[in-house]
Amino acid sequence: MKQNIYDNDTFFNGYMTLRKSGVTYNDFIEQPAIKSVLPPLHGKTVLDVGCGMGQFAAYCVENGAASVLGIDISEKMIEQAQRSNPHPGITYRCVPIEDFESPGQSFDLIVSSLAIHYVEDYPALVGKVSGLLRGGGEFIFSTEHPVATARQKMNNWVRDEEGNRLHWALDNYQEEGMREQHWYIDGVIKYHRTLSTLVNTLITGGLAIEKMVEPQSIPAGLEQMPDVANEKRRPSFLIIQSKKRP
Ligand SMILES: C[S@@+](CC[C@H](N)C(=O)[O-])C[C@H]1O[C@@H](n2cnc3c(N)ncnc32)[C@H](O)[C@@H]1O
Repeated sequence: MKQNIYDNDTFFNGYMTLRKSGVTYNDFIEQPAIKSVLPPLHGKTVLDVGCGMGQFAAYCVENGAASVLGIDISEKMIEQAQRSNPHPGITYRCVPIEDFESPGQSFDLIVSSLAIHYVEDYPALVGKVSGLLRGGGEFIFSTEHPVATARQKMNNWVRDEEGNRLHWALDNYQEEGMREQHWYIDGVIKYHRTLSTLVNTLITGGLAIEKMVEPQSIPAGLEQMPDVANEKRRPSFLIIQSKKRP
């Protein structure tokens, strides 16, 4: 099943307002972390899976990538990317990764920022990515951390009567599969996978693990968004850097 939640008007408007604020978990935690594991981009051909509004694609070309192909399931996100981040080195295509075909084309680097947890068939995704990478090419992605996606409803903070966070409840960890969450609207679907599934599927798919990051906030986040201090209590994100074995 493929859900295109970013084309829902209410969801899209809420998400865009959040991202345009510049005060988000992406800005202070996830983006600095995924950028910290990127290889030198000079001359690289890049595929950005779930490119959203194209900020990451733009970062890649601004830092020397020869070309970036940004793909996304959402027409609204692709339109936004074409408006906000046009660049002669970037091509945007509205296509879900599940249906993406690229005969004869291969990439030095495949990146994906916070899109993988929307994809149901992770082994198929990894197989596709592996087939699209040149030997020695890298697949680098961020995803919501398994400790954040594990619990049904993903309502993990246990609070006291005044709403203070007491602790983070981890449950249902080994029960992989669909999770349904309220985020701007009801019925946002994500997929929970254990850490071993995330890693071992890459290995089975011909990729070697280079590095994993469970990031905390950069200092600016702690000043502007006090909630990010909770990353010390549990990680929200996981970044995995992997390389196609020759
Ligand atoms: C949290 S947003 C991240 C956007 C962008 N990577 C960024 O960091 O700004 C997730 C994106 O993944 C896209 N997406 C979800 N499922 C997808 C799929 N099956 N194939 C391609 N893109 C998908 C969504 O439409 C959305 O733009």
